[in-house]
Amino acid sequence: ENFVVGIDLGGTKIYTALANLKGELLAELIEPTEKEEKKLLNQLGTMVKAVIAKAGVAKEKVLGIGIGAPGTVDFRTGTIITVPNLPWQNYPLKVKLQALLRLPVEVDNDANLAALGEYKYGVGRGHRDMVYVTVSTGVGSGIIIDGQLYRGSSGSAGELGHTIVEPAGPRCNCGRRGCLEVMASGTAIGLRARQLIAEGYGQEILKRAQGKVEEVNARIVGEAFLAGDLEARAILKEAAFYLGIGLANVVNLLNPSLIALGGGVMNIGEPFLELVREELAEKVLPQPYKDLTVKKAELKAKTGVMGAVALALERFS
Ligand code: BGC
Ligand code: NA
Ligand code: ZN
Repeated sequence: ENFVVGIDLGGTKIYTALANLKGELLAELIEPTEKEEKKLLNQLGTMVKAVIAKAGVAKEKVLGIGIGAPGTVDFRTGTIITVPNLPWQNYPLKVKLQALLRLPVEVDNDANLAALGEYKYGVGRGHRDMVYVTVSTGVGSGIIIDGQLYRGSSGSAGELGHTIVEPAGPRCNCGRRGCLEVMASGTAIGLRARQLIAEGYGQEILKRAQGKVEEVNARIVGEAFLAGDLEARAILKEAAFYLGIGLANVVNLLNPSLIALGGGVMNIGEPFLELVREELAEKVLPQPYKDLTVKKAELKAKTGVMGAVALALERFS
């Protein structure tokens, strides 16, 4: 029997799993992400060996490794181009990890692989055309067209987070202005709440952070919203407004049958999803909207790692 390894390489933690050819996970490991270039590569090498050992299988039976990284990736070469939260810029991860482990490696964008994971194992089963969108520290997406992940001409399609929804908006991490990510990510929601508090508003939100403004984040805004706080609702309504613009553009452009929403902000749950649906419904054309379903992603913390497993299975088995 053969196996593959999937790695969800996040800015704060690394989730590694060994799977059989049916995509069933036999061993899993989670560690905080090393912050230094060389240490991080060694950490990945060590984690792969450890997860293989944990599953009790021989390294020779492992066909290859799939990795998802939270930034722009050139899939053709397995090079990480820019990743805001990792110590790697223009980093040839595929080449480096292959040399270290003597196993085949493929590297793709985190949201692309999350889309693949949800398509194969989660909420996307039965759909041929879907777009997965994550709203978390950043905003990212992965596009499935006719059952295939769409990567574009240079292997980096799906950067929905950097489509511009507010031309005069604040500066994004990418250097441009008014990207969807800077208007509607979890980071943006937390920042907006802290700004309002600094201006003397948002007292209900502040209470939920024990009066510590620096601890106010999207999760706390979500809790206040669910408890009926109108200021929290206004903050989330604004994020939903911009998500509505981004998603309407996606739906008009691609006519998917499913939008799957993931990432920490979606943990606020159905009431927030409803705000997003309302904003989308107002902005989208009727025909592509007619058969569209907007749902929460299903695989939760495993979305990314299942996607990395799916990639490894596609490429190496
Ligand atoms: C990056 C994307 C990534 C997303 C989610 C964005 O800032 O540009 O590549 O998929 O964050 O991690
Ligand atoms: Na993507
Ligand atoms: Zn941007």
